[in-house]
Amino acid sequence: MSLFQIDESKCKRDGFCVSDCPMGIIEMKTKESFPSPVSRADELCIKCGHCVAVCPHEAISLNWLKPQDCAPISKDLAPSWEQTSYLMRSRRSIRKYRNKPVDREILNDLIEVASHAPTAHNSQPVNWLVIEKKEDMQALAAIVIDWMKFMLQAQPNFAKVMHFDRVVAAWAMGLDRVLRDAPHMIIAHALSNFPPSQAACTIALTYMELYAPTKGLGTCWAGYFNAAANFFDPMKRALSLPAGHQTFGALMIGYPRNPYNRIPTRNEPKVTWR
Ligand SMILES: Cc1cc2nc3c(=O)[nH]c(=O)nc-3n(C[C@H](O)[C@H](O)[C@H](O)COP(=O)(O)O)c2cc1C
Repeated sequence: MSLFQIDESKCKRDGFCVSDCPMGIIEMKTKESFPSPVSRADELCIKCGHCVAVCPHEAISLNWLKPQDCAPISKDLAPSWEQTSYLMRSRRSIRKYRNKPVDREILNDLIEVASHAPTAHNSQPVNWLVIEKKEDMQALAAIVIDWMKFMLQAQPNFAKVMHFDRVVAAWAMGLDRVLRDAPHMIIAHALSNFPPSQAACTIALTYMELYAPTKGLGTCWAGYFNAAANFFDPMKRALSLPAGHQTFGALMIGYPRNPYNRIPTRNEPKVTWR
C-alpha cells in the first residue's frame, strides 16, 4: 500500500505537500501530475504529518493520518504577542504549593500538550513517569537527602558549592527544599544511548512548564532530584525505569500558594551580531 493517498477530486495540484515535506519524498512528475511518493518514501518518512497539515483541500491522507483526525488551525485561538510575551515572562518557579492534588485528567492534558514539542527527526523519544502520591514524593525526597549526605562525605567541595549542607540541615528541621512539598512530580525519561533524548525531554518539559499556568498550576524544575536519579543507585532502584532509560528532567507540579505581583528583570542578553 502506498505511503499516502491523494483524493484526486480534491487535489488542486498546488504542490504545497511537495514543497513542505521535510524529507523531500513527495514529487509531482509534471505540473499536471498528482503528488506521488518517491522511491523508498516509506522508509524515509518521519511521520511528521506536515503534508496533511499543509494541504488546504484535505486532499492527502497518510496511511496512519487523515485530515479529519487533525484539529483545524484556528487563527481566532492564536494568542497575541502581548499575551505570549506575558505568559513567558510571568512564569515563575513555584516552590510553595497548596495542599491540593491535581486531577489526573489535568496532568494527562499537560502531557498531551507537551507531546507536541519538537523532537529531532520527529523521533518522539520522551516517556513520562508521574509521581501522584504525596507519600511517594516524600520517599523520593528522602532518597535525594541520602544522596546529598553521601556527596557531602565523598565530594565535600562540590556538595557545599551546591548547598547540599543547607538542604540537609533544612530537611532535619522538617523543611523539604528538594521537592518543596509539591503534591506531584512529572519525570521525563528516555533511552540514554539515543542522542536526541536530552533535548527532547528538556523541550517537552519546557512546553509543560509554560502551559501549566494556563491551568492555574505552577511548576519547578527538580534539579536536585534529577541529579540523584542519574547518579545514585538507590534512586535508580526506586524509579525502576525501563531498561536502558534514564531520567532527563523532572518538574514538581501543583497549585501555587503565593501569587506573584511583579516580573523580575533579567541580565542583559549577551549577543554577538555577525
Ligand atoms: C535545569 C533546572 C534545574 C532546577 N532545579 C531546581 C531545584 O532543584 N530546586 C529549585 O528550587 N529550583 C530549581 N530550578 C529553578 C531555578 O532556580 C529558577 O529557574 C531560577 O532561579 C529562575 O527563577 P524563575 O524560574 O522563577 O524565573 C531549576 C531550574 C532549571 C532550569
